[in-house]
Amino acid sequence: MIQKRFFREIFVCLACVLLCAANALTASIHYVQQESSLSDDPKELYIDLMKRAVANTIYEDPAYAMPNPNQLTRFNSMTRELGKDHPLYAHTMIGMKRLNNIQACLVDILNNNVQGDCIETGVWRGGATILMRAILKAYGDTTRKVWVADSFAGLPPPDVAHYPQDRGIFLCDVPYLSVSMETVQDNFKKYGLLDKQVVFLKGFFKDTLLTAPVEKISLLRLDGDLYQSTIEALTALYPKVSIGGYIIIDDAQIPACMSAVTDYRKMYGIEDPAFWIDQDGLYWQKTK
Ligand SMILES: C[S@@+](CC[C@H](N)C(=O)[O-])C[C@H]1O[C@@H](n2cnc3c(N)ncnc32)[C@H](O)[C@@H]1O
Repeated sequence: MIQKRFFREIFVCLACVLLCAANALTASIHYVQQESSLSDDPKELYIDLMKRAVANTIYEDPAYAMPNPNQLTRFNSMTRELGKDHPLYAHTMIGMKRLNNIQACLVDILNNNVQGDCIETGVWRGGATILMRAILKAYGDTTRKVWVADSFAGLPPPDVAHYPQDRGIFLCDVPYLSVSMETVQDNFKKYGLLDKQVVFLKGFFKDTLLTAPVEKISLLRLDGDLYQSTIEALTALYPKVSIGGYIIIDDAQIPACMSAVTDYRKMYGIEDPAFWIDQDGLYWQKTK
């Protein structure tokens, strides 16, 4: 009897040991799966966290439902990755892939000492320009400016007399696309990044860009959606882009915007190859 009990206890002990070993194995497999691909470099870590913050993949805010912005849709990580939603709180709508593209272009500019400032035409809540300022900060650049160009009152109504390509695009009627300059300045302040290197250009592009006191540009990012907004920005700013600098077009999937890019490239014989960043964004490097 005692012998039988002894063997039962040994059996239970062995079973426990096996169970613990199995748990440890699962835990270690789990650990390996969760291992991060983050760099150990503090500046890379800062930029990585900035991208997650401006896109708000951390607190995962909902987005305005399309086409009914009075309703909200739940956060979806793939949608946010591709910049396919209009977030309720995030400081940018361009998504992680296009944020990564800004980082890649700007780091290349800094590493190769390509001269000139950074500018975005069409900033909404400012997230993409906040990231530009953060990258300059991380790399210790104290000379380049980040130009933040917007009406800060939303898109203009389509001017079909001059730009028939914009017929029917009524983004001017979307209230949440109108964000005041004070709000964008406050957003920069929240990251500790509002300083002398950030310059605001307030007004419609037709009134601000041609006379803006920008001398040289290394990074030109266009996000004004319309044919008019895109052609005005290219006309005023493309000649100021340094050789080796980058041009990023955020809304190339919008036919009106893409027509402006195609027309401008054709008009000035630009043959630099352009690459898709994701389904919406396009970029190229100026070589001549
Ligand atoms: C799609 S949002 C920009 C998104 C932003 N780049 C981001 O990171 O989330 C378009 C912005 O362009 C601005 N915009 C478009 N056309 C403009 C124009 N012709 N003049 C001034 N601002 C314009 C709008 O006010 C709006 O803030």
